Amino acid sequence: VPTPAVSPAVHGPAHDSVFLRACRHEPVSHTPVWFMRQAGRSLPEYLKVREGIGMLDSCMRPELVKEITMQPVRRHKVDAAIFFSDIVVPLKAVGIDVDIKPGVGPVIADPIRTAADLQRLRPLEPDDVPYVTEAIGLLVAELGATPLIGFAGAPYTLASYLVEGGPSKNHERTKAMMYGAPELWAELVDRLAVITAGFLKVQIAAGVSAVQLFDSWVGSLAPDDYRRSVMPASTKVFEAVADLGVPRIHFGVGTGELLGLMSEAGADVVGVDWRVPLNVASLRVGPGKALQGNLDPAVLYAPTKVVETKAREVLHAANALGTSGHIFNLGHGVLPSMDPDALSRLVAFVHEASAR
Ligand code: CP3
Repeated sequence: VPTPAVSPAVHGPAHDSVFLRACRHEPVSHTPVWFMRQAGRSLPEYLKVREGIGMLDSCMRPELVKEITMQPVRRHKVDAAIFFSDIVVPLKAVGIDVDIKPGVGPVIADPIRTAADLQRLRPLEPDDVPYVTEAIGLLVAELGATPLIGFAGAPYTLASYLVEGGPSKNHERTKAMMYGAPELWAELVDRLAVITAGFLKVQIAAGVSAVQLFDSWVGSLAPDDYRRSVMPASTKVFEAVADLGVPRIHFGVGTGELLGLMSEAGADVVGVDWRVPLNVASLRVGPGKALQGNLDPAVLYAPTKVVETKAREVLHAANALGTSGHIFNLGHGVLPSMDPDALSRLVAFVHEASAR
């Protein structure tokens, strides 16, 4: 993928939004808030427009992608939109036979387990995902001053689906390859880094204002193994988009012991799950980095008063960062059974409680 100059978003109307200001550690009028998985099954309007359309098919229809991406912005008044897609979309685009099974997740028809299998992971070209470029164009025009976050899956998390053939609790085949066939593994995650970097560049060239690299399942690794076997590939992704003018967010679940290394891999903003208070996370990621997070998603099932007390605790812990550099989010994604009204109330509360 040819490298675009800087993102068109750098000179766009979202440049001075509270979200991008917080990513850059600049002073803000209030703490920005958005939710991972904000577009999706917790919204009745989402279920309605998705009726009869498969998950991956829906990602290839620009008008539908625009509508689904806009739904949580309209309803919750969040400070950023996240592009509606999935981490397996670029794999499908380079020819991997993958489907997303409702209630299960990504399922790979022929898992990647040998050197010969690796040949199926060719680089991604913009022509492979014309629908992504088109949908982002539509969205940037519609969103105006509200930033659009692009994203991709990080090499480890993508590898876990490709090697296991689907979701897995213990990642045994993935780790067997990582520990037992380190050269094969290194080539696998390197090829995934190339695909992921290509997918992010397409989104940046089309106008997203920031990118988030989801390494959702990397928390299953010890720091030394992360450093040796995963960090080079994640670093390669971040380096590929380092000069394009958009903040790079990095997130994983259960990554308390990895926060420093994930920051070092090249993140400008580190996403934190709910297990590590933000004042502690701030020490681990080092100075100059913004943090994103980190209310336990399950708190949303408690009464409003409790949600507000816990949200206030998150804001307090973030004071360790100074007057900026915090993006409020959940510690992981919105759950399908969550009450959308509780999320809307939380956005209003964070805006009010953090107003400066
Ligand atoms: O955040 C957003 O609102 C944007 C859209 C988005 C989706 N997937 C849509 C989706 C994003 C950012 C993702 C990323 C993603 N996909 C991740 C990383 C984020 C995380 O949760 O840690 C991962 C691990 C995946 C893989 C994946 N795709 C899973 C585990 C599932 C759930 C399967 C199920 O049904 O339980 C999916 C499917 C998926 N991706 C859905 C949505 C809205 C639900 C499918 C549907 O609505 O039919």
